[in-house]
Amino acid sequence: MLIDTYGRVATDLRVSLTDRCNLRCTYCMPEEGLQWLGKSDLLTDDEIVRLISIAVTELGITEVRFTGGEPLLRPGLVGIVERCAALTPRPQMSLTTNGIGLKRTATALKAAGLDRVNVSLDTLRPDVFKTLTRRSRHQDVLDGMAAARDAGLTPVKVNAVLMPGLNDNEAPDLLAWAVENDYELRFIEQMPLDAQHGWKRDGMITAGDILESLRTRFTLTEEGDTARGSAPAERWVVDGGPHRVGVIASVTRPFCGACDRTRLTADGQVRTCLFAREESDLRAALRSDATDQEIAELWKVAMWGKKAGSGLDDPTFLQPDRPMSAIGG
Ligand code: GTP
Ligand code: 5AD
Ligand code: SF4
Repeated sequence: MLIDTYGRVATDLRVSLTDRCNLRCTYCMPEEGLQWLGKSDLLTDDEIVRLISIAVTELGITEVRFTGGEPLLRPGLVGIVERCAALTPRPQMSLTTNGIGLKRTATALKAAGLDRVNVSLDTLRPDVFKTLTRRSRHQDVLDGMAAARDAGLTPVKVNAVLMPGLNDNEAPDLLAWAVENDYELRFIEQMPLDAQHGWKRDGMITAGDILESLRTRFTLTEEGDTARGSAPAERWVVDGGPHRVGVIASVTRPFCGACDRTRLTADGQVRTCLFAREESDLRAALRSDATDQEIAELWKVAMWGKKAGSGLDDPTFLQPDRPMSAIGG
C-alpha cells in the first residue's frame, strides 16, 4: 500500500510516456519546444510495464492513467496498454491526450483494453486554437474525440483551460457543444506549471468566474461531495441532467486532502504530487537489477514523504523545476 503520513492512500497512478508534444500550448511550453529527454533517459516499454505491474500487484494501484507530453506520440503505447490489461488484478486504464492522434488509434486502443480518454480542447474557434496551441490542428482534435466516442472509449471527458482575453467568453458555448456531442466537459483553473514561468494569480479565470458565466445560459445543480470521492473535478448537473459539467479548481479550491495519486515521469522518477520539488529515482533501481520488492519499497518510502498540499497558497511557493509537459499533468 502507498500510504503517506497524513493517512492518504494512493490508488491512482499517472504515468507519463513522453515529454514531447505536437502542440505548443502557450500555457505549457514555448514555440521552440523544450530540452527533450534523450532516448536512453526514457523508460523502455518493458520498464514501464514492469513498474506498473509492481504498482498493481504489490502496491494497491487500481487505476492507471497514461499522460505526456502527448502520450499518443509514444510508438509502443498500444502494446503497453495490452500488457497492462493482462495484469491481475486488471487496472482501470485511461489516457489524457490532445486528441490529435486519436482518429488513427482509438479502435486499436479500445481493443488493447483502454477504458476511456480525456481530451484537451480550450476553444471551438479554429483561429483561437491556432493562437493558443500555435498549430492548425483544430479539426484533427474534433475528429479524434468523435473517433474515441465511437470506439467506446467513454465517457470522453474534455478538459478546457480558460485564459483572459483569449477564450474566457467561450464557457457557455463549450458547454452547449459538449452536451450536444455527449462529452463531459471540465474547466481547469490555470496552474503555475508552464515552462516559461509566466503564470500570474491576478487576472486568472477562477472557478467562480466560470460558474457565473455558465449560469447566464444554464441551470447548474451541485452534485454533492459524496459523488466526488477523490476526483479533482467538482461536478454540477446541467439543466436537470443527464449531462454534467466539472470544474477543477486546483488554485482557488484545492483538493489535496483527498488526493489518491502517485506519479511516474517518463524517465522513471516517482513524484508524490504535481507540485512536488523532490523526485525518487526508480529508473536507477530498475537498471541496477533491483528486485520487485526492493522497487516497491523505494516507492513506499517516496510516498511516505508526500507533503500535505500543493503549497500554492504558501507565500514561499516555488514552481517545480519541471513543467507540466514533463510531469504528466
Ligand atoms: P478523471 O476525472 O478520472 O478522468 O481524471 P483527471 O481529471 O484526474 O485527469 P486529467 O488527466 O484529465 O487531468 C485534468 C486536470 O486535473 C489536469 O489539469 C491535471 O493536471 C489536474 N490534476 C490531475 N491530478 C491532479 C492532482 O493530483 N492535483 C492537482 N492539483 N491537479 C491534478
Ligand atoms: N494549468 C492548467 N491546466 C493545464 N494543462 C496543461 N497545462 C496546464 C496549466 N498550466 C491541462 C491540459 C490537459 C491537462 C492534462 O492539463 O490542457 O488537459
Ligand atoms: Fe502539449 Fe498538453 Fe502541453 Fe498542450 S498542454 S503543449 S497538448 S503537453
